[in-house]
Amino acid sequence: MSNQPKILAFAGSSRIDSFNKKLVKIAIEGASQAGAEVRYVDLLDYPMPLFNEDLEKQEGLPPKVLEFKHLLREHQGFLISCPEYNGSITPLLKNAIDWASRPELNEKPLSCFQGKVAALLATSPGGLGGIRGLVHVRAILEGIGVFVIPEQKAIPHATQAFDELGQLKDERQAQGILAIAKKLTEVTAKLS
Ligand SMILES: Cc1cc2nc3c(=O)[nH]c(=O)nc-3n(C[C@H](O)[C@H](O)[C@H](O)COP(=O)(O)O)c2cc1C
Repeated sequence: MSNQPKILAFAGSSRIDSFNKKLVKIAIEGASQAGAEVRYVDLLDYPMPLFNEDLEKQEGLPPKVLEFKHLLREHQGFLISCPEYNGSITPLLKNAIDWASRPELNEKPLSCFQGKVAALLATSPGGLGGIRGLVHVRAILEGIGVFVIPEQKAIPHATQAFDELGQLKDERQAQGILAIAKKLTEVTAKLS
């Protein structure tokens, strides 16, 4: 691929055995096979206080927020697997997005997000796989200037869906995840 897109992959969970971390790692394979340069990060390594405007005013953006923002800025595409909490986005992911949406001194607002491309995945132990939460994640990202590709996938019954190596047992599901990652790679290459 002449224009090799850089894709940042992460899950909206900090849980050690997160199903969504497993899912996004499968998708990474698809993006890499399609020619993307992919970096995986674990939000556990980017602990951020709960966003608070007074804290921001007093202390500025915390170092981990700055690190995460720089990561977002240097990638053109985002591959995100989002757990669903009460039909919506996890507080971890929303908090990370809220912090990253805050500009540094002399930075254009939302520069980490505007013009970027994202693909959304989800998995959960429930029968809907977390698809309801993706509606909200999509709306949040689109509202801050990210083009979220229409293709998305939610894998239900997560406790049975993965084998001991973290791979999806169902080949059709696995192919669906790889296809979304490939599409993200192609669209990111075209739009970057
Ligand atoms: C506060 C809370 C709310 C949850 N709400 C939902 C929900 O609305 N739908 C769902 O499918 N699972 C729900 N779950 C279960 C999560 O899908 C499950 O904990 C899942 O393993 C989280 O993703 P992870 O494995 O990537 O951390 C909820 C879990 C928590 C802790």
